Amino acid sequence: MLSFPQNFLWGAATAAHQVEGQNFNNEWWDWEQTPGRIKHGHSARVACDWWGGRWQDDFDLAQSLGHNAHRMSVEWSRLEPKQGEWDEDAAQTYRAKLKGLRERGMTPLVTLVHFTHPRWFMEQGGWLNKASLAWMERYTTRVVEAFGDLCNFWITLNEPNVYMVLSYVWNARPPGAGSLPQGLRVARNMLFAHYRAYEAIHRVQKDAQVSLAHQWRTLAPANPRSSLDRFATWQGNYVANEMFVRALTTGKMPFPLGRGETIGDGKMPLDYFAFNYYFVSHVTFDVSRPGSVFARLLPPTWLKGTSFEELTDVGDLAPNALYELLKRFARWNLPIYITENGTFDIGNDNQLPSIDNQSSYLVTHLRAIQRARQEGVQVNGYFWWTLVDNFEWDAGYWLKFGLYHLDVESQTRTKRPVADTYANIIRGNGITDALLAKYA
Ligand code: GAL
Repeated sequence: MLSFPQNFLWGAATAAHQVEGQNFNNEWWDWEQTPGRIKHGHSARVACDWWGGRWQDDFDLAQSLGHNAHRMSVEWSRLEPKQGEWDEDAAQTYRAKLKGLRERGMTPLVTLVHFTHPRWFMEQGGWLNKASLAWMERYTTRVVEAFGDLCNFWITLNEPNVYMVLSYVWNARPPGAGSLPQGLRVARNMLFAHYRAYEAIHRVQKDAQVSLAHQWRTLAPANPRSSLDRFATWQGNYVANEMFVRALTTGKMPFPLGRGETIGDGKMPLDYFAFNYYFVSHVTFDVSRPGSVFARLLPPTWLKGTSFEELTDVGDLAPNALYELLKRFARWNLPIYITENGTFDIGNDNQLPSIDNQSSYLVTHLRAIQRARQEGVQVNGYFWWTLVDNFEWDAGYWLKFGLYHLDVESQTRTKRPVADTYANIIRGNGITDALLAKYA
């Protein structure tokens, strides 16, 4: 048995736009209206119908699996639909959700911005506009004043690095700028905004625990003997990971985001580390991609021979890379939470036999976390991405990460094997030998 401590947080992670439906007031809704942008023409119009009230059913499901925590986000475009105007009805709905979690014995972890922004925010340039720092600070203050009696565990921004790359450096997501300089400006302003939000939360709530969720993109050279591949990997890793973590841990803005200037008072604006971790991606040097620091991600090897081969951005499975990451971050002496980790079902609905690849993913990654814990790394919680299949951004409903399968039309939820595997681990607060023998 590989054991975890008694107070370990076990849960799943969700994000407002991906589960709520009826989110018509942000840039994603606008983006979805152009054909060809979302796989199979899917839309987030209904999603998991949380705005229609089905969050209650899904929180019941999470409770039935023994979850004692849940990561969710609140939607800025609902709470502040017009600049400076707070929507009390929307706030009441989120209060009901937060109470709903507490009543079911789950600790809420709330993300303030998870990839979506009010239309008015984007119309004024979004994070390219320096005024966004003040907008974020005001919004954050309102959120903590409104929900602070129900939650003290916060994430300001979800994955500024992923947002920078997919929405600004590339054209994959709104606003689709295709500009590295713009991407860097956005990242810089988001890091400043995080600091402002961090301070604002602590002003309102003394016992708050605040972080920013960073998706650590482990990159490896496609050909380790090629110095060009190693160079592209080094650059990619610096831009996607290191410069963000450097800014957060040193309190200074590193090149090329800045010139070492101090962010706020120069202290580390983190009470804990929030890591999202999925896959390792292999990188090759590509001279035609100066705008992506000459790095090109290779298609994953583990999906060879399946209909998923066309996917280019999911990388390879390497729980060991998660262990290495945790060991490395132990030196900062902050508690660590894995705020997203998971994989999609490569069988269900895709004309492939279901092979429960999610359970092996879960068990091997938790084993890596437990090993790091045994060696003294303070990992305090784990959130599987995600509870019920949801709107996976540009992939629509095609990628199914849920513990539960969702039929969007009928809104029927069906439990996947991984849900039971996870429940088994939570119940025993550890990974049994039987599970290890079966999945690891
Ligand atoms: C993350 C993101 C989530 C989810 C996940 C799985 O980058 O934070 O919203 O989409 O990837 O693809």
